[in-house]
Amino acid sequence: MDCLPGVENLGPNSTKDSLLTDVEGILYPKETTRYWEEIQNFKARPDDLLICSYPKAGSTWMQEIVDMIQHGGDPEKCARAPIYQRIPFIGFSLPFSIPTSIEKIEAIPSPRTLKTHFPVQHLPPSFWEQNCKIIYVARNAKDNMVSYFYFHNMINIIPDSGSWDEFMENFIAGKVCWGSWFDYVQGWWKAKDHHPILYLFYEDIKEDPAREIQKIAQFLEIDLSASVLNRIVLHTKFENMKTNPLVNHSDLPFLFDQTTPPFMRKGKVGDWKEHFTVAQSERLDNICAQLFAGSGLTFRTQL
Ligand code: A3P
Repeated sequence: MDCLPGVENLGPNSTKDSLLTDVEGILYPKETTRYWEEIQNFKARPDDLLICSYPKAGSTWMQEIVDMIQHGGDPEKCARAPIYQRIPFIGFSLPFSIPTSIEKIEAIPSPRTLKTHFPVQHLPPSFWEQNCKIIYVARNAKDNMVSYFYFHNMINIIPDSGSWDEFMENFIAGKVCWGSWFDYVQGWWKAKDHHPILYLFYEDIKEDPAREIQKIAQFLEIDLSASVLNRIVLHTKFENMKTNPLVNHSDLPFLFDQTTPPFMRKGKVGDWKEHFTVAQSERLDNICAQLFAGSGLTFRTQL
C-alpha cells in the first residue's frame, strides 16, 4: 500500500501525499487504510443490513429513509443520535477515533444496519459469506461528479478538488477517493445477479420517493401503512434533511468545512447542466454508452 504517484494530478493546493493511500489501484483515505486488516477481517452477521453507494450518490438520504422505515416512520426515534452513529460507516473511522468504528460496530447488538463506500472487490468478505442484504444507491455520473467536486473541498480528509477540468480528468481516470465511478457502479450491478442486492437509483427516488420507499420496505419485509409512508416521504425530503442537524453533518465542523457549499447542497437531478460544457457532457455520455453497452445498466441525467 503505497501512495500513488497519479494523485499528483489532484490539484495545486492539495496536501494529497499525506491523505490518500492506494490499495490495488483504488485510492482510499488514510483513515481507511490505517485499519485495513481489521476492516477486512470484520465479521458480518447474517442479519446485518448494508447500505452501499459511491460517495455522493445519496447514501445519507438512504440511511435516513431506512432508519425511518425500521422505526415505524417515527421522527422522534430517528432523532436518538446523528445518522453516522445510528448507521455507522464501515471502512472509515473518524481521525483519532478511539475505539475505532470497527470496535464500535462489533459492539452493536443485532440486527445492525451499516453503511459503506467499498467497491465490490474490497467489501469485507464476510458480507458475501453471510449473504447479508445490501441496498445499493447509484446516481448518474454527471451529478455524482459535481457533488463529489464540491465535497472534495468540504471534507478535510481528502485532497481539494483542484479546478473543474482537473477534477473531471481525475474522475474519469478513477484517480479519486474510493476509485473509478465507472468500475464501481458496474461492479455492484453485476454483484446483484448472485447476491441479495436491491439496486436503486437516486433519480428514481427523486422522481417518486413513495414508490421507491415501498420497494425498500418490501426488500426489508416491513409493511408500511399509507400514513407511515407519507411521514417517511415528508421527513426525508431534501428541504427537511437540509435543515436537520442529525443528518446534515453541521455537527462535525472539524471534518466538514462549514464555509463551503453545505453537505446538503442542491439535492437535484440535472445540476450538472450548470457545470459541464457541451463537449464535456458528450464525452461522459460516450464513455457511459461504451462501457455499459449490453449490460442493462442505464442512467437518467434529467427527469
Ligand atoms: P448534492 O451535492 O448534489 O446536493 P452522500 O450522502 O452519498 O454523500 O450524497 C450526498 C448528496 O445527496 C448531495 O448531493 C446531497 O444534497 C444529496 N441528498 C442528501 N439528502 C437528499 C435528499 N433528501 N433528497 C435529495 N438529495 C439528497
